[in-house]
Amino acid sequence: MTAKRFKNPRAEHGFQGRSCSILSVGSYVPEKVLTNADLEKLVETTDDWITSRTGIKERRIAAENEFTSDMAAMAAQRAMHASGIKPEQIDLIIVATLTPDMMFPSTACLVQQKIGAKRAAAFDIEAACSGFIYALEIGQQFIMSRTYETVLVIGAEKLSTIVDWTDRNTCVLFGDGAGAAILQHRPNAHGLLTACMGADGEKSDLLFMPGGGSMCPATKNSVAAGLHYLRMDGKETFKNAVNAMHTAVKEALRRCELDITQIKCVIPHQANRRIIEAVGDRIGARPDQVFVNLNKYGNTSAASVAIALDEAVREGVVQRGDLVLMVVFGAGLTWAAAIIEW
Ligand SMILES: CC(C)(COP(=O)(O)OP(=O)(O)OC[C@H]1O[C@@H](n2cnc3c(N)ncnc32)[C@H](O)[C@@H]1OP(=O)(O)O)[C@@H](O)C(=O)NCCC(=O)NCCS
Repeated sequence: MTAKRFKNPRAEHGFQGRSCSILSVGSYVPEKVLTNADLEKLVETTDDWITSRTGIKERRIAAENEFTSDMAAMAAQRAMHASGIKPEQIDLIIVATLTPDMMFPSTACLVQQKIGAKRAAAFDIEAACSGFIYALEIGQQFIMSRTYETVLVIGAEKLSTIVDWTDRNTCVLFGDGAGAAILQHRPNAHGLLTACMGADGEKSDLLFMPGGGSMCPATKNSVAAGLHYLRMDGKETFKNAVNAMHTAVKEALRRCELDITQIKCVIPHQANRRIIEAVGDRIGARPDQVFVNLNKYGNTSAASVAIALDEAVREGVVQRGDLVLMVVFGAGLTWAAAIIEW
């Protein structure tokens, strides 16, 4: 049983009596499995290299006619089913993604139509792999201010469409999928206690996709030059990830006057097992406190911690009343750490 003496920082911001809880979660990953052995046939790599450098054994790849909005809608429906929430009850849909179906309209609008949430307002946010916690924090603000009663937050990605399948440095790392959470005020629960978010645009060139935006719209030349694939400086990204995640966790724990030993489950962004272990070491978490599923899915960016949270709940690792720490990092650079009383 988790020791539960902590401070609720929201109370200091005039939110006494109001909280934002995650009512339920759901996730979806595509059927097709791409193993490290499959990748050995595509690029010069080995299962041994990928496993030892990343911890990833396989990832899921969406079908050609299965889009980010389809996966997002599936995850949303599973989350709604878990808490008995009807589509008409949803006031707002926020989708975090860097692989929207189209530049516009937003993927959130497409999800609104697919799940029949006719009353809901809808928009996307883009904070790369940090998107799910950014979206949770935004959704939380609408609940705390009593603007909305029920908010659906989704992280969803079809990264297989922006990965260069001839580049062994990046193609082994990523996968497709979606995770969703329903937010509501729950009496006698603290819910999302804090979310420490940060960004550093100075380092935007560590992980980016140059083509497809207003700077470099799609042309025959841009496509031929492969500008519509993601690019990454792996080593620098690794170092920055460990530092930023460590700092964000420390700040989140400090705000809630919590010690890491009081946290039941740490759910880190599932990018690389070595990053997870380095962050776990620095924050003093025991290995059995840290939830890892990247061996099955690789890095699913904004969907990563949402899928992991859903699995942790379904496996009984996280139970009502437990304290959960989520920590993410991604392009931007962006990062965030959130503490939730589940
Ligand atoms: C990408 C990453 C796994 C590379 O691991 P690494 O230990 O830094 O790798 P190194 O730089 O030591 O080794 C690179 C060498 O392996 C080779 N290599 C890269 N990918 C390979 C692969 N899939 N298979 C075999 N060899 C590979 C490189 O060509 C390079 O060879 P060289 O030294 O002959 O040039 C690691 O840097 C990483 O995970 N970074 C963070 C990435 C990330 O999480 N991004 C998303 C953040 S949200």
